[in-house]
Amino acid sequence: MKTVLTERFGIEYPIFGFTPSEHVAAAISRAGGLGVLGCVRFNEAEELDGVLEWMHQNTDGKPFGVDIVMPAKIPTEGSKVDLDAMIPPEHRAFVERTLEDLGVPPLPDGSRMNTGVLGWLHSVARSHVDVAMEHADKYGQIKLIANALGSPPEDVIAKSHQHGVQVAALAGAKEHALSHVSAGVDLVIAQGHEGGGHTGEVTSVVLWPEIVDAISGVKTTSGESAEVLAAGGVGSGRQIAAALAMGAAGVWMGTYWLTAQEYQLGHRGAGPSTVQQALLNATSRDTVRTRIYSGKPARLLKTKWTQAWEAAGAPEALPMPLQNLLVGEAHARISASDDPEVVAMPAGQIVGRMNAITPVEDLINGLVSEYTAAVERLERTLR
Ligand SMILES: Cc1cc2nc3c(=O)[nH]c(=O)nc-3n(C[C@H](O)[C@H](O)[C@H](O)COP(=O)(O)O)c2cc1C
Repeated sequence: MKTVLTERFGIEYPIFGFTPSEHVAAAISRAGGLGVLGCVRFNEAEELDGVLEWMHQNTDGKPFGVDIVMPAKIPTEGSKVDLDAMIPPEHRAFVERTLEDLGVPPLPDGSRMNTGVLGWLHSVARSHVDVAMEHADKYGQIKLIANALGSPPEDVIAKSHQHGVQVAALAGAKEHALSHVSAGVDLVIAQGHEGGGHTGEVTSVVLWPEIVDAISGVKTTSGESAEVLAAGGVGSGRQIAAALAMGAAGVWMGTYWLTAQEYQLGHRGAGPSTVQQALLNATSRDTVRTRIYSGKPARLLKTKWTQAWEAAGAPEALPMPLQNLLVGEAHARISASDDPEVVAMPAGQIVGRMNAITPVEDLINGLVSEYTAAVERLERTLR
């Protein structure tokens, strides 16, 4: 599985793994891929700083990346206090009523809590970038910064390049890919409709070659070729073979790691967490693309929570970042309530293949051996 990116990043396999869990990200890098830590859950730059220190101690010197959320188009930005005042009381009442109907109790200590909502603000995402660059300089292990929802601001791209860090950005359409590369992005993550989290309307099998063709031959500001990472629905070695056959230089996977053994977020006690139980039970038809998570279309696990927002009388989701602020506390309450039928979790259609809790190393080995078998099978078609 050697591509231009295994060489460029000094990794064994061109498998880029997005995950909010530092334990999973570190395990992906140790197993020969490139683990990319999602930073949106960090409200404070100091918290990210501590987690990155942990990553350095647990990655055997292997490279890894970070992912920030800096939407290119955001209708409102300001302090959380200003934004809170813009949320209509009817929306707050709907959320409160729905949580009550679904039997989701208040947070144990009765306090208000905001898990990860501040990370959606540009000001906080910028502090994530600053911390990541300090770590890139200090340890030389951070090799990639990725941005969801548009090209990162030009100064962030320039700064990353100055620190020797390549820049990736998600694209759900050819037009997004073209604007990313003209802004100086090195890797376009072509994210098909079936993917978990924010996702567009074009499916992977159509989108990947379309974006490969659109940016073919483009050189980045560092003089290297702009490359495509195929994302959305990848959860097997056969799909990696398909992605590389379509011209991608690697894959970017998110959902697949949520049932990794190392994924400890939301765990209380031994065994799979409540969210993992929901993921293990789900089929490939049990996801829905909805604006209720963040205000922009994102694919989530279909549960009683997503269904409540589709019922008659439910309000429209608010624009980003108001929707994030509206549901931030609800998400915290839901994750503390331990009901697999009421979870609020981004997940892609590949969830239907995730049927066991598995260590990351085994997941990667499985992808590699299936990839090898697929390529050998294809080679036989030429004999
Ligand atoms: C639980 C979860 C959270 C996600 N959060 C982010 C995020 O914060 N930033 C981002 O760039 N992408 C995020 N994504 C999208 C992934 O980066 C990736 O593009 C997507 O998962 C790929 O499709 P797949 O889920 O079919 O593998 C998230 C995906 C999941 C499943």
